[in-house]
Amino acid sequence: MKGPVRVEARDVNLAFGTNVVLRDIDMVVEPGEFFALLGPSGCGKSTLLRLIAGFNRAQRGAILIDGEDVTGVPPWKRNVGMVFQSYALWPHMTVGENVAFGLEERRLPRATVREKVARALELVGLTEYAGRRPGQLSGGQQQRVALARTLAIEPRVLLLDEPLSNLDAKLRHHMRRELVAMQKQLAITTIFVTHDQEEAMTTADRIAVMHQGVIQQVGAPTALYDDPVNRFVAEFVGTINLVPGEAAGGAVASSLGTVGLPAGSVGRTGRVEIAFRPHSVALSAAPGNASRHWVAATVSEREFLGEFVRYRVRAGDVELIADQPHALGDPGFAPGARVHVGVDPGQLRLIPA
Ligand SMILES: Nc1ncnc2c1ncn2[C@@H]1O[C@H](COP(=O)(O)OP(=O)(O)O)[C@@H](O)[C@H]1O
Ligand SMILES: [Mg+2]
Repeated sequence: MKGPVRVEARDVNLAFGTNVVLRDIDMVVEPGEFFALLGPSGCGKSTLLRLIAGFNRAQRGAILIDGEDVTGVPPWKRNVGMVFQSYALWPHMTVGENVAFGLEERRLPRATVREKVARALELVGLTEYAGRRPGQLSGGQQQRVALARTLAIEPRVLLLDEPLSNLDAKLRHHMRRELVAMQKQLAITTIFVTHDQEEAMTTADRIAVMHQGVIQQVGAPTALYDDPVNRFVAEFVGTINLVPGEAAGGAVASSLGTVGLPAGSVGRTGRVEIAFRPHSVALSAAPGNASRHWVAATVSEREFLGEFVRYRVRAGDVELIADQPHALGDPGFAPGARVHVGVDPGQLRLIPA
């Protein structure tokens, strides 16, 4: 069998009537990659996925699979597999019949169908459930049947549209790890749509962050988290502090005072947003280590989350979030407490204002 394939979208523009849903989409998914499309509801993720599957038509642009322009090719000739959020299983058919459905449509010999169904069910760990009906399975098991049915046809590309959204949190976390393991084992090019940043970050090799039909940034999870290109990405991928500032002469001035610019931004001038993650902020009764920039502040809110404590503090006219590790028996700071926040200059990024 041929190895994994590349998927490309070139200059794709798509509108439903006057509603422009995809704008100038250029995207390359590498062979064997686990690629996530991440963005809020309505930003165009499913539309782009359906376009790759062949269920939508764009006004402009092209979709390429394995270097071949498939723009005019109907879905059933693209050999891509899609799993929907709703699973879309046949309730009157058994698990085995559901998984066999796509294979029988292809008029494969009965023995081949049986063999492929067995292999797909084994892959998702449902061999013993072949004779049951979907209604007799849990949500997670139904999701696996949908996955098995798609994998059974041995697609060149696996398209997953929010496949874990209907599962409860614990099962969702378990299934996403299984999905990653399975994807790595099969080495099948996979595009995974989700609105959940944690889900994207924990599964994908690379993520495309979408907003209002535009790809904002593409990168590995750590790259997006550490170096967001704009405010939207900074706020969508995790929690972040943003403080307006003015960069000049290798430093940036803001209501927090003047701090040296991070390496890589030293040449920057003009209005910017200073961005830093809540866990990079230190909180202390008195100013601490001189490697940080300390500012007096007042605690306005405290949320105990177990793993850490999330503080909202007011320093002059800025509200900051400071996540502090929780130590056994540590009462922490109460709302109203006078504290000092320590900003680590090495953990700052500048993004356009
Ligand atoms: N078949 C369709 N006809 C008309 N409008 C559609 C259709 N499919 C999606 N849309 C619209 O396109 C926009 C993006 O939808 P969608 O791609 O489903 O977003 P997402 O998957 O990111 O939540 C929405 O405004 C939605 O109403
Ligand atoms: Mg969607």
